[in-house]
Amino acid sequence: MTKQPEAIYLKDYQVPAFLIDHTELRFELEASRTLVKARLTMRCNPDSHQKTRVLELQGDKALRLCRVSVNDQVLNEQDYKRHDQGLEISHVPDEFILETVVEIDPDQNTALEGLYRSDGIYCTQCEAEGFRRITFYLDRPDVMSIFSTTIEADKTAYPVMLSNGNPVAQGEADDGRHWITWEDPHPKPAYLFALVAGDLKRVEDQYTTSGGRDVALHIYAANKDLNKLDYAMQSLKNAMRWDEEVYGREYDLDIFMIVAVDFFNMGAMENKGLNVFNTSCVLASPDTTTDLGFQRVEGVVAHEYFHNWSGNRVTCRDWFQLSLKEGFTVFRDSEFSADLNSPTVKRVEDVTVLRTAQFAEDAGPMAHPILPASFIEIANFYTMTIYEKGAEVVRMIHTLLGADAFRQGSDLYFSRHDGQAVTTEDFVKAMEDASGRDLTQFRNWYHQAGTPVLAVSDEFDAASQTYRLTVAQSCPATPGQAIKAAYHIPVAIGLLDSEGEDLVLPNGKTTQVLELHDSEQTFEFTGITEKPVPSLLRGFSAPVKLHYPYTRDNLTFLMSHDSDGFNRWEAAQKLAVNILQALIEDFQHGRELVLDSQLGDAFKVVLANVDLDKAMVAKVLSLPSEAYISELSDVIDVDAIHTVRQFVRQQLALQLEAEFVASYQACTLEDIYSPDAASIARRSLRNVCLSYLMETGKQDFLELALKQFHEANNMTDSQAALYIVVHSGYQKAGEVILDQFYQRWSDEPLVVNQWLSVQASNPQAGVLTHVEALMNHEAFNMRNPNKVRSLIASFCAQNPVNFHAIDGSGYRFLADQIIVLNKLNPQIASRLVTPLTRWKRYSADRQGLMRKELQRITDSGDLSRDVFEVVSKSLA
Ligand code: ARG
Ligand code: ZN
Repeated sequence: MTKQPEAIYLKDYQVPAFLIDHTELRFELEASRTLVKARLTMRCNPDSHQKTRVLELQGDKALRLCRVSVNDQVLNEQDYKRHDQGLEISHVPDEFILETVVEIDPDQNTALEGLYRSDGIYCTQCEAEGFRRITFYLDRPDVMSIFSTTIEADKTAYPVMLSNGNPVAQGEADDGRHWITWEDPHPKPAYLFALVAGDLKRVEDQYTTSGGRDVALHIYAANKDLNKLDYAMQSLKNAMRWDEEVYGREYDLDIFMIVAVDFFNMGAMENKGLNVFNTSCVLASPDTTTDLGFQRVEGVVAHEYFHNWSGNRVTCRDWFQLSLKEGFTVFRDSEFSADLNSPTVKRVEDVTVLRTAQFAEDAGPMAHPILPASFIEIANFYTMTIYEKGAEVVRMIHTLLGADAFRQGSDLYFSRHDGQAVTTEDFVKAMEDASGRDLTQFRNWYHQAGTPVLAVSDEFDAASQTYRLTVAQSCPATPGQAIKAAYHIPVAIGLLDSEGEDLVLPNGKTTQVLELHDSEQTFEFTGITEKPVPSLLRGFSAPVKLHYPYTRDNLTFLMSHDSDGFNRWEAAQKLAVNILQALIEDFQHGRELVLDSQLGDAFKVVLANVDLDKAMVAKVLSLPSEAYISELSDVIDVDAIHTVRQFVRQQLALQLEAEFVASYQACTLEDIYSPDAASIARRSLRNVCLSYLMETGKQDFLELALKQFHEANNMTDSQAALYIVVHSGYQKAGEVILDQFYQRWSDEPLVVNQWLSVQASNPQAGVLTHVEALMNHEAFNMRNPNKVRSLIASFCAQNPVNFHAIDGSGYRFLADQIIVLNKLNPQIASRLVTPLTRWKRYSADRQGLMRKELQRITDSGDLSRDVFEVVSKSLA
């Protein structure tokens, strides 16, 4: 029996007993036998109370220790203890030089943590605890060190060799090898270390900071992808300018590099001066990349760049503080994207993801506060909660303080803590100190998991011309937290008169932020002459579920009149949810499905309004996803949700056919593709119209879709047509164009990934067999996370009717894949488990089938900590 992994606790945090002032690394890169020599200048930490002489270093069990010395004295085996997780050296002096030589095998590294090879390119991923897979070290973010890195490798295979900071020396070595030394002047924790070596090509540009520093910008990729780097470069320069203008943050080195690699567990990594990116988050060209892809590149390039301040200059004390850098940085990148494009569209997109995926996480067995109190494996905590809810919490501080005080708070945070490893508490304190606001109760957002629920009721008293809004808050129990204290919640509201005009509120404006502190609180508005319609939680001012007894008429009224763009969309969502939920009940009781014309009529008004942003029209017309309706359900009835949603789509298509045709035609295409907001908006509305038209089942529209597929001058339109045809169940036509698509794009891996995912998410019957066949296709590779996500994760997370097939085949399939991936790549395996962890939300028969598969994973033995944590918590 291997020992069961144990949790570690925030309350046990202790400052490090030793510090590392200098880290000199030498890498001799060689397939299957890479030597890593480390020379660490160390000393006892004067701030530590542990007066210990025992040095404990972390080091993965795969490190082969060749040599260890302290102050040039080679140690014998009785001077140190090598165990599974590291190295213990007894009797070290106050100050010393520790030298180690280890051998590692990057080619055997399928976990993609530490040093590995991605398609012949050596690269590293050290966050959170990957550095210990490279060498023995104090692998914790509060140990910050100056790094100097020498890389030696074969000159032909690895002409480019990169690390953090600036190159300071290079030369030739024997046997056709060469070397280079990089020095990073900024002290950093090991998780920000990076090394890259390979046959890479680059595009170059240049940026002059507001303070006059000239910065060389280099983006590296494989030669065949060189033509797909311009958008990332433009996004990078936009991000650098924006961070100066909005946060007063300048770049601090003479060179900034990005490298694109195809094998990567996540999106990208903010290593100091040398960001490593998943190709999916950096390559972009009109031919191969959809609008969504372009937006992702812009957002992720900015996100990683922004980390240079929110993460690198000021970093995390320990991994419980992860949201300190991630929540704040997501907030920063989403404001950036909003500023450069459409703020309302961006808000709708962010809220949609939050309410679908994060709310579900917060209601499941892995629910955790944005400042967790414990974890088993930190890699499991790169979650929607840490990132997206974390960003919402920062956004609420911004809302409560206002933009100016928030900026003073961020300035104070950066200046007070520059060069330090700090906590979320330090962030909140800086915000308090700069603004004079008391955020004591607000801190509950950091410590409590779960999505708060607001129940709003109102009354109007004509005699006293008084309108009262009563808001009650509650928060469901989550694992380990039965009772929740009341939150401090900013609720932005407006009041509409019967003409749809905003009333002027006590603050003299038409939107006011009510601050909720109590479990129930009443807000009074006087001088009101008729009962207003409240527009609640404008801009989604807090990550909560809000209930107010809106009538369907209220909602159509808000859809056309609310001055808050977000809430106009929200009214449409609420109306659609309301109608879908009623029909789901009808379906479950065997009643005939009938859709009255109210939703279609409301959509007609929206389609006819030429003043509206087409992107918003497209969003209003898109019904809430099956995943969102599932999240709102007490018991998720997969088949009812799918059938009813399809029924409503079809009815709307029949009712609004003429309007959809007109809108489709009105959204004219440009000859030259551009990923600007207006063009993206036109394409998205056009494709929403096309997808409805296909629901009519008319041959004309199949032909229209096929024509679009063949004539499109960009990936957005051709892929949308492909998706629509395949998912509408035109099997023959679908097979033909899937085949053509593959032939055309077989040497563009990112396009092939889309091809896999269109097929895996197809709701038509029998798709699992097809997915299983695709696992043996040349396009699939179990070791490449992007392939696993495109095929396996798309099937399990984007194809509810097939994944939840009542014969249990989908669950069995997933468990089989997890058992394989648990050995190859624990991080990816553990993420894939998610759909099974939600078993409590389904009917008893599905619950049984899902639990059985979770149990089978447990019984398969030798679980990684990653998979063990998720599976055991979800069975608990
Ligand atoms: N810090 C990175 C980001 O948010 C993500 C960490 C990557 N981690 C990983 N295991 N690949 O941008
Ligand atoms: Zn990040």
